[in-house]
Amino acid sequence: MQSVISIKNLSKTYADGFQALKDVSLEIEDSEILALLGPNGAGKTTLISIVCGLVNPSSGSVEVSGHDIISDYRAARELIGLVPQELTTDAFQTVWQTVSFTRGLFGKPAKPSYIEKILRDLSLWDKKDNILMTLSGGMKRRVLIAKALSHEPRILFLDEPTAGVDVELRKDMWDVVRGLRASGVTIILTTHYIEEAEQMADRIGIINKGELVLVAQKAELMRKLGQKQLALHLREPLERLPGGLDDYELELSSDGRELTYLYSTQGKRTGVRGLLSALQGAGVEFKDLDTKQRSLEDIFVTLVKEQS
Ligand SMILES: Nc1ncnc2c1ncn2[C@@H]1O[C@H](COP(=O)(O)OP(=O)(O)O)[C@@H](O)[C@H]1O
Ligand SMILES: [Mg+2]
Repeated sequence: MQSVISIKNLSKTYADGFQALKDVSLEIEDSEILALLGPNGAGKTTLISIVCGLVNPSSGSVEVSGHDIISDYRAARELIGLVPQELTTDAFQTVWQTVSFTRGLFGKPAKPSYIEKILRDLSLWDKKDNILMTLSGGMKRRVLIAKALSHEPRILFLDEPTAGVDVELRKDMWDVVRGLRASGVTIILTTHYIEEAEQMADRIGIINKGELVLVAQKAELMRKLGQKQLALHLREPLERLPGGLDDYELELSSDGRELTYLYSTQGKRTGVRGLLSALQGAGVEFKDLDTKQRSLEDIFVTLVKEQS
């Protein structure tokens, strides 16, 4: 796979001394959907802002199709469309005007047939003469996508495209993004919804506290994300795990009162039934049990542990 964006050893320390990015290196491949998943404050917007030339890096370099984002800014920027996290639109323009105007800002000649195509693709065509301030939040977000696409970029950044958007529209948005990818646009989206990354991405990068903790194909990561945890609260504390349970990766808490078992919801069989009868066979009784989906937080912890 050819990389369309090459990020090397990128760090960012803001003027107040806060280090928002720490030595991030990442190759983004042509025509992929990459989701950058991470909690609020992780550094996702900072990373995107640097690639789009809105924030200066403190060190490191970024090339977009071979163009350095600083020394060759115009050539790099022209290849990129950005849908920002904040909803910002000029309230009194029409949909058609604002999208056409944005294209002009990139110095591209007018191309009404193309503007018509993107408005149709985004289900905005019947709203083309509407004044922006009269549109719903979801429609405004579509307009932002149309604006970002107006100069025919090869790469589209979507910063939290569905934050605060209702479930229905979120699914719509996902369809739009898939359609764009099918037309050859490389897509980088940030999100703090695991589900969004799961639905959309070919690859997922996890970013936490300014560090890119991991980048992996979705399938690989979902195996980890799909794990659930079963906690058994024991009737009598155990000193050690009894024999006969070796087939299960069990963890005994330090006070001996809780057994935890991680199992995959993606697997063909979860093994929970087998575990319970094995426990019965070993004479281990429990007074209560609960299961929980591992949270993003847990996964971060696991990944960081695995890394060190
Ligand atoms: N202009 C700035 N000055 C100082 N700190 C900033 C600035 N912009 C962002 N930050 C801080 O950098 C961290 C990362 O922010 P951001 O990149 O917006 O994260 P995310 O998009 O993942 O939520 C946050 O702690 C944020 O407060
Ligand atoms: Mg952000």
